[in-house]
Amino acid sequence: MRHFLTLKSFSKEEILEIIKIAQNIKAETKRGEFVPYLEGQTLAMIFEKSSTRTRVSFEVGIYQLGGIGLFLSKNDIQMGRGEPIKDTARVISRMCDMVMIRTYEQEKIEEFAKYSKVPVINGLTDDYHPVQLMADYLTMIEYGKSENPIVAYIGDGNNMAHSWLILASKLGFELRVATPKGYEPKEEIVNDALSFAKESGAKIVLLNDPKEAVKDADVVTTDTWISMGQEDEKEKRVKDFQGYMVDKNLMNLAKKDAIFLHCLPAYRGYEVSEEVFEEHANEIFDEAENRLHAQKGIMVWLDKHKII
Ligand code: CP
Ligand code: NVA
Repeated sequence: MRHFLTLKSFSKEEILEIIKIAQNIKAETKRGEFVPYLEGQTLAMIFEKSSTRTRVSFEVGIYQLGGIGLFLSKNDIQMGRGEPIKDTARVISRMCDMVMIRTYEQEKIEEFAKYSKVPVINGLTDDYHPVQLMADYLTMIEYGKSENPIVAYIGDGNNMAHSWLILASKLGFELRVATPKGYEPKEEIVNDALSFAKESGAKIVLLNDPKEAVKDADVVTTDTWISMGQEDEKEKRVKDFQGYMVDKNLMNLAKKDAIFLHCLPAYRGYEVSEEVFEEHANEIFDEAENRLHAQKGIMVWLDKHKII
């Protein structure tokens, strides 16, 4: 049985296999065919943080695959009142066929997976957002940006930056991450990426200058400066991130046909200008829709690997 906790435990071939399944299911869905690959199955969805896309895409996704989603917010389950994670895992995994969790520490989801009898999917932790990256890569393919692309990530060295590091280093493309000083990605995750890059041929570049990062890039991406759980740091962060907004001047340094991706929610006037956001709205909202398709691919793949 496999879990989907970070892309670190997936090979390039497996990542591409999941993408292929997602593409097929997307094509079927677009033709109005809803194939019940997961008929009668239940996906438990535990949310300790807010969500629009993750909740809607997983709930609609499992429904379209012939199953049902169970929305469990931290306020509604005993885990929120201190029931141990390992007990919650042992109970829920005896009743449900798959579990998706959005939480804070990565260790929490690892602990849940350790005690779960069914596959566990990371729907975002402080360290990673792997399901988002599957949707992002699917979008890159659709926009013709998957062959040796240069990707520039501008902003906070957070869960999105970490996930880009792992995706790029697994698949073998060039990723430049530009963060303000003091907001670099975690050293341990950078080291993991550098070791995967040795095998894949990826080029991983860590910078502090957004202009240098964006030069001739095929894909430019960013994320909020204030992630969930960091609300108290807003004032300091907004000050520290000055100069890191993806605006027209910065975007002009990328390739002429570069795309702009954003996992959303986006904060205009902070990490991205209104102008850049609206100019690239097609890509951004295709990316958001692709959460649905990519996650169906992940769920179907995990189900297939339950029996091995
Ligand atoms: N991108 C993303 O995960 O969005 P939500 O927080 O709305 O789920
Ligand atoms: N880095 C953001 C991503 C939101 C989808 C956060 O963790 O809040």
